[in-house]
Amino acid sequence: MKSKSRVNLRAFTPEDLQKVKAWNDDEELATFLGLKLPGEEVDYYKRCQRLLGKRNSRILAIEDATGYFIGEVELNQIAWRRKEAELHICIGERKYWGRGLGTEAVLAVLDMAFVDMGLKSIYLRVYRHNLRAIRCYEKCGFKKEAILRNRFRSECGQGYDVFLMKIDAWEHISLTTA
Ligand SMILES: CC(C)(COP(=O)(O)OP(=O)(O)OC[C@H]1O[C@@H](n2cnc3c(N)ncnc32)[C@H](O)[C@@H]1OP(=O)(O)O)[C@@H](O)C(=O)NCCC(=O)NCCS
Repeated sequence: MKSKSRVNLRAFTPEDLQKVKAWNDDEELATFLGLKLPGEEVDYYKRCQRLLGKRNSRILAIEDATGYFIGEVELNQIAWRRKEAELHICIGERKYWGRGLGTEAVLAVLDMAFVDMGLKSIYLRVYRHNLRAIRCYEKCGFKKEAILRNRFRSECGQGYDVFLMKIDAWEHISLTTA
């Protein structure tokens, strides 16, 4: 029997943006998300704002069991004909990291993608140095498909490798019904 999830996914609202804005200022978080790396200057706040209401994106708020807003999860680049999308997740509240909540949120969004939305494949990109995220994705059944080397280069020449990871619907379903 499946244990009760400790996270709840709900519709993301414009009020949530205030907190996202605060997370945006967290330097370490920003580097995991690729926001402050050379060549990829992204305003996370504006990005979330843009995603609201787009046909090829879904953005959801992650709450803990008490209803406290701890992060957000997105499906982007939804290709309805090819039935695939890219996943992004951010638990912005650091003290919630490493408690298994990210894994539960990813599993919940995979259920939504494969069962409710009828998608067949979900992929994501993650920095090679983001070991916590990689472990979380592997626990959810994602597999490394490719490595994109030296994706970004700072002025001092440091490059950052990115893993492309993917899971197909049948893999998720066999993992969660086993
Ligand atoms: C990535 C993220 C969603 C993961 O959620 P989480 O709730 O922290 O992760 P979980 O607790 O479910 O799983 C983390 C796993 O990584 C492991 N881990 C943590 N730090 C690690 C490290 N340095 N090396 C290897 N494994 C590590 C944990 O032990 C756990 O594995 P286990 O259950 O086998 O013990 C969350 O940490 C987050 O949002 N981080 C900041 C933003 C980010 O990195 N987003 C992803 C961008 S691609």
